[in-house]
Amino acid sequence: MASSQHVPVLLAEVLRHLDPQPGQIIADGTVGGAGHAVELAKRVAPSGRLIALDRDPQAVKLARERLAPWPAQVFHASYAQLPEILQRLDISGVHGVLLDLGVSSLQLADPQRGFSFHAPGSLDMRYDPTCGPPAWQLLQELSERELAEVLFRYGQERYSRRIARAVVAQRRRRPIRTAQELAQVVLEALPASARRQKIHPATRTFQALRIVVNRELEHLEQFLREVSEALVPGGRVAVISFHSLEDRLVKQQFRSHPELVEVVRGVVRPSPEEVARNPRARSARLRVAQKRPG
Ligand SMILES: C[S@@+](CC[C@H](N)C(=O)[O-])C[C@H]1O[C@@H](n2cnc3c(N)ncnc32)[C@H](O)[C@@H]1O
Repeated sequence: MASSQHVPVLLAEVLRHLDPQPGQIIADGTVGGAGHAVELAKRVAPSGRLIALDRDPQAVKLARERLAPWPAQVFHASYAQLPEILQRLDISGVHGVLLDLGVSSLQLADPQRGFSFHAPGSLDMRYDPTCGPPAWQLLQELSERELAEVLFRYGQERYSRRIARAVVAQRRRRPIRTAQELAQVVLEALPASARRQKIHPATRTFQALRIVVNRELEHLEQFLREVSEALVPGGRVAVISFHSLEDRLVKQQFRSHPELVEVVRGVVRPSPEEVARNPRARSARLRVAQKRPG
């Protein structure tokens, strides 16, 4: 089924910049459907190893199946825990780390996860459904002011106050429990001009909620602060982000961290051919840094 396939973004560029070699240890912090991971594992095989992580237990299960033929270990954990996982495995450093942030096509396609606007199931949005409150509960509990702030800060939504007001009015009548219901409330809250956009008018609201539900920026900040501990001298870290809040954090840390040097100046963007083949690649930006050689 096309919808259950996750096509890896910027795969050739990731392989070029991480340049995995037989015998090396590489980590994939967001293994998802194992698209990048299989290609990384193939290149370090047979004597090397791939260490893969994901917060989503379903992704972990699938990645274990897809990576079974290769030397790989898959853990249910956040990429922010990478240094401690490596320590537990007695690995003093890896040659490369990849993060491919955000939602996978598999998560988007699952109506029970609440990631896509049309999902009729529960508005959950947790990568790890065993961790923290789901999005529908936050929508019930946040005050109108807090909600507006979340939408403005994490969604860069200029109609944040209007949307927050509409959510609060709706939840007084009936709690918003599905993604479909939320998308409808947002649509009705926006002025007519804002409903005619190229992207779905609820895109920013969904992005903001997802970031808050999963504490995405906190995990990313912790990872970026500590990633050099997980790398061998000269080892590389590659991060693919999909919106400017993530990309800004990556850029700042790569430029200011005393142990990292940016090896690709600026961002790598997908080619027009890749975007035509895989529209999800449209907003992808790759940055690569290296741990200073010892
Ligand atoms: C875009 S997908 C990765 C797709 C993968 N590169 C592939 O080619 O199949 C992002 C994945 O990151 C996971 N994720 C999000 N935040 C995470 C975190 N803090 N730690 C580990 N995994 C995370 C999501 O559950 C999702 O499976």
